[in-house]
Parts: sequence; structure tokens; C-alpha cells
Amino acid sequence: MRIKGGLKKVEGSLRVPSDKSISHRAVILGALARGRTFVREWLRSEDTKATLEMVKALGVQVEERETELILEGRDFSFLEPSDVLDAKNSGTTARLMLGVLSTQEFFSVVTGDGSLRRRPMGRVTKPLKEMGAFIDGRNEGSNLPVAVRGGKLKGISFFNEKSSAQVKSALLLAGLRAEGVTSVTEKVPSRDHTERMLRAFGVEVKVSQEEAYKVELEGGQTLQGTEVFCPADPSSAAFFCALGVLAPEGEILLRDVLVNPTRIGFYRKLHQMGAEISFEREREISGEPVADILVRPSQELKGVEVTSEEVPSLIDEVPILAVVMAFAQGVSEVRGAKELRVKESDRIRAIVQNLKAMGAEVEEFEDGFRIEGGKPLKGAEIKTFGDHRIAMAFAVAGLLAQGETYIDDPECVAISYPSFFDDLFRLIV
Ligand code: S3P
Repeated sequence: MRIKGGLKKVEGSLRVPSDKSISHRAVILGALARGRTFVREWLRSEDTKATLEMVKALGVQVEERETELILEGRDFSFLEPSDVLDAKNSGTTARLMLGVLSTQEFFSVVTGDGSLRRRPMGRVTKPLKEMGAFIDGRNEGSNLPVAVRGGKLKGISFFNEKSSAQVKSALLLAGLRAEGVTSVTEKVPSRDHTERMLRAFGVEVKVSQEEAYKVELEGGQTLQGTEVFCPADPSSAAFFCALGVLAPEGEILLRDVLVNPTRIGFYRKLHQMGAEISFEREREISGEPVADILVRPSQELKGVEVTSEEVPSLIDEVPILAVVMAFAQGVSEVRGAKELRVKESDRIRAIVQNLKAMGAEVEEFEDGFRIEGGKPLKGAEIKTFGDHRIAMAFAVAGLLAQGETYIDDPECVAISYPSFFDDLFRLIV
């Protein structure tokens, strides 16, 4: 796809598709619950479809309209799947469902696409084995395909070193059928959608925040089917927020965006850089804070630093944050973000390589990068590495650069945002 640079003005109001993390969890908790669950404004994308197909393969009946789902929960008694379960490109599907499958006595195998089969799974399979699940797989269960025979689990106390919400969620889901208490402690809290949604399904979840963030639950609890509204995804809205801030003229209103504090590090950083962003009409939907976000151009952005404590709250926004940093005056730096190397692509490499191709001054570190910002970017050939967030971030960079940009695999945006390019081109005046 070719993108013309030299953007002059953006204008409009947009409700980006629903939150990916919440859409995955709505399907999984609905499947685990007793009775019916109604999911409203569900994100239909490649990743979330992988989760939906997986629960269907376990015997869950689903009535589907485009963004509305009615799930007949199975109250933890799933059917043994007759084939391998495919998480495709989705880390959340694979890791959370490994937690769910660990509660089941039957045999199952989870696999994924080439990218997901390279990503680390030991972070969930090790603690799940400790809880009592029989798990084996490539590299002793560190890589998919992974085979599971679950059953009699016991609760564990786990320190979540990497502040991974996928790991925390997998263990909490397994903990729902374990004997005793399962607890997960984090130095920096990761996104807390699982805790919040479990409560909406009637589960008692204890959270304490003294020295560290600790979440615990008692095994043997029942989930009661409910209605879940999915708000707009702040990770998808981030691309338009960056566009609105960096465009020379105009205004963008992003409606119904999830503003959970564990997810809005990107917006906090932009504010710190001097951007004009305001949260309007703050409210709560299905136990999650939501707001409309108003974005105006900011001519004088300044460089900023991101530290390891800040990384979890903006982990998926680093590609688009790096683009904003390239346009800001002075030095910006991201450190403590080694996790980016094991996302859908090696995102540190993808960011550095593509920004360099556009003429930016960038230095790569093992755990991040440093950008000398403020020099105009020029159009370039962008390699997405099949990574949706790299494609979207550099499409925005291409619009703001001088000359033409070529994106090698624009279709990969369907992982989280199938209508991304339609929405993007609609806002351009
Ligand atoms: C997610 C957690 C994060 C994030 C991913 C979605 C989730 O991953 O990067 O896109 O829905 O729990 P980690 O748990 O690996 O940090």
C-alpha cells in the first residue's frame, strides 16, 4: 500500500473498534460461566476470532451477529476437542486458554502461527505445571504446540516478574478450579481487566496494593453469566491520537475509549511531551472507566523518557509513541522494554529499522531505543514483519513524512483493527 505524505489537516469524530483484551476475556469468561452471557460491541478481528473459535471447539454454543455475541456458558465442563486448537497470531488466546485447559481432565493441544510458535510460553506452562497440570510441548513446554491434560490443581502464590497480564490471567483462570487460594503479585501492576471482569461475573477477587500489587482468589467459585459492554480500544485510538497531535491543523474526537489507568501510559506520556489531549465525559461501563478523548495539534512537542515502571501501561503503544518521539524536539528514550522483543514481532528492531529508513536518528538498545527527534521524516519502504501495530504506526508516520511511503503488508492490521485504513483515510481533509 502506498501512502502520500505531507498531510495538512485531519478532522472528525471516530469510535475505534472495541478493546481487544476485553473482547478476548468476555468470550472466555462467558464460556466458563453458568448460564448466558451477552457481549455487546465485541471486537471482531483475527485475534478475537481465534478465541471464539477455540471456545466453540470446546463445545460452547454461540449465537453471533457482527459485534454481538450470546454465549451459552458451560460452567467449566467443556468437551474434549477433536482437533488441535489454533490460537493463530494471538498470544492472549494461547496463554489464557492454556490456563483454562489446565482445569480440564481431557487431552488438548494448542498451536499457533509461525510468529506465535516462536513466542515464549514457558512463562505460563511452568507455573501451570506447578499447580498440577500435565503439560508438555516443544522445548519442554516453552514453545507451541503445547499439549495439556489438566485436572486436579492446587493454588500457588506467584510473583509475576515481567508484569504480564496474560500470565496473571492464565493463573487466575486456572485458580478458579484449584484447591485453595491462588495469588499473583506484581511490582508494577499489569492491565487488570481479568480481575474486574471476574467480579462482574460474581467472583470474589481480593486486591491489595500495599508494597506491591497483589490479586488473589479462592478456588471453586462459580461464574454467573452476565452482560458485558466492550469499550473502544485505547491501543487502537492511540494511532489517531498521534495523528491528531502531529497534524498541522484540525481536531479529532475519539469516542467511548477505555481509560483504565493500567492502559493509558501513552496518553500520560503525550501530555508530558506537551500535547493537547483532554478526557471528556468520563464515566464507567461494565466496571471499566471510559471517556471521549479530544485531540488537537501541538506544534511544540518535547522529548521524553520512558522507564521500566512505565512500560506495562503503554507496552502496546510503543511503536506509535516512537513515531511521536521522532517528531518531538530533543532526545527521547525508552528503556526497560525488553518484552517488546517477544511481541508479534521484535518490535524494538522493527521500530528502529523503519524509523532509520525514514531518516530518523535512532540508537538501538537491548531493552529499548533512543531517538534524536525533530528532524523531518521522509517517505520510505516500511517492513511490517506481519505485525499489525508496526503497520498502523508507520502508516501514520507516512502521512506526516515528506514523499511517499510503501507499507509491505497492510492486511496484517486485521489482527486488531480490520477497518483501520478506511477510518484513517476518512479523517483526512
Ligand atoms: C495483553 C497483555 C499484554 C499485551 C497484549 C495483550 C492481554 O501482553 O501486550 O497485547 O490482553 O492480557 P503481556 O501479558 O505479555 O504483557
